Amino acid sequence: MEFTDALLKWYDEHKRTLPWRGTGDAYAVLVSEIMLQQTRAAAVIPYYGRFMAELPTVFRLAACDEEKLLKLWEGLGYYSRARNLKKCAEAMVREYGGRFPKSVEELKRLPGIGPYTAGAIASIAFGEPEPAVDGNVLRVMARLFEDGDDVTDQKVRDRWTGFLRDRMGDRPGDLNQSFMDLGSLVCLPKAPLCESCPLASFCGAKEHGAQADYPNRGEKKRKREESLTVFAVRDGDSFLIRHRSEAGLLSGLYELPNRPGHLSQDEIGQALTELGVRPLGSWEIVSRKHVFTHVIWHMQVVRLNAARVEVPGCLWYTGAEPLPEAFLKCLR
Ligand code: ADE
Repeated sequence: MEFTDALLKWYDEHKRTLPWRGTGDAYAVLVSEIMLQQTRAAAVIPYYGRFMAELPTVFRLAACDEEKLLKLWEGLGYYSRARNLKKCAEAMVREYGGRFPKSVEELKRLPGIGPYTAGAIASIAFGEPEPAVDGNVLRVMARLFEDGDDVTDQKVRDRWTGFLRDRMGDRPGDLNQSFMDLGSLVCLPKAPLCESCPLASFCGAKEHGAQADYPNRGEKKRKREESLTVFAVRDGDSFLIRHRSEAGLLSGLYELPNRPGHLSQDEIGQALTELGVRPLGSWEIVSRKHVFTHVIWHMQVVRLNAARVEVPGCLWYTGAEPLPEAFLKCLR
């Protein structure tokens, strides 16, 4: 028996029930796969439900207002993915009359669709024998074959893609998803559950007790660290926000007013005056940290109550404005 047969057999018994599975809808596959690049399947489920209820078709996504889109994405992070998803829908409407191209090559030419997503759509929605190689697949393959090559290297990914393309068999969508489930449920990054793994008898790393040595993820780049002071200015249930600039990190979303650096008590008082906020009572300071893809924010959060007056350049949150998780955590 090939390891792929063992994997499919396991999948038939243990696959997760997920709302985007079995729909046969390429749009559902696209939306779920982009969301799943952000976070775990369990966390994606509510986002996916809301998104599909609001924007059930490529046409609705292509026509949707950007701020509404970002609101649906609020908390998932990496908002450029959401913007690219909309660009992809626009291109699909413009170039293909709203129908998905079936070939991987055409799919890859659409905005925001890389080799992984193209492979997932082609295989899951259209039954094309195309692999979808993500971190889960690379971890499983590196352990199975005790392959120490750096999985962040595109050449290594291409090699595994070619290897798997020759082994897709007649259930390519299920095979790709069986890797995803194995990677999420059994072949875990830190503490793999080898005793319940259907591939244990094929696995070199298991045989040699070397699971922790694979995959080799190369040299991790250090993230840039930034300090800032964030003002959480409240009036009852509402708080003061402003629109972020159109360029750079979190562009076009909203933010709590903030300044670079950790300000002193005097500087905080002065910054509040400059902002146009008159505090009611004293403020408290808490710290919050947020880790982005390339940056870490160390936030000194100044929490205070203030009268609900007009503040130049700011508005009072109504619930509709997309506010990134980095700032939401300053309010909790
Ligand atoms: N992770 C990425 N894609 C997935 C899928 N289709 N099902 C479950 N987990 C996934």
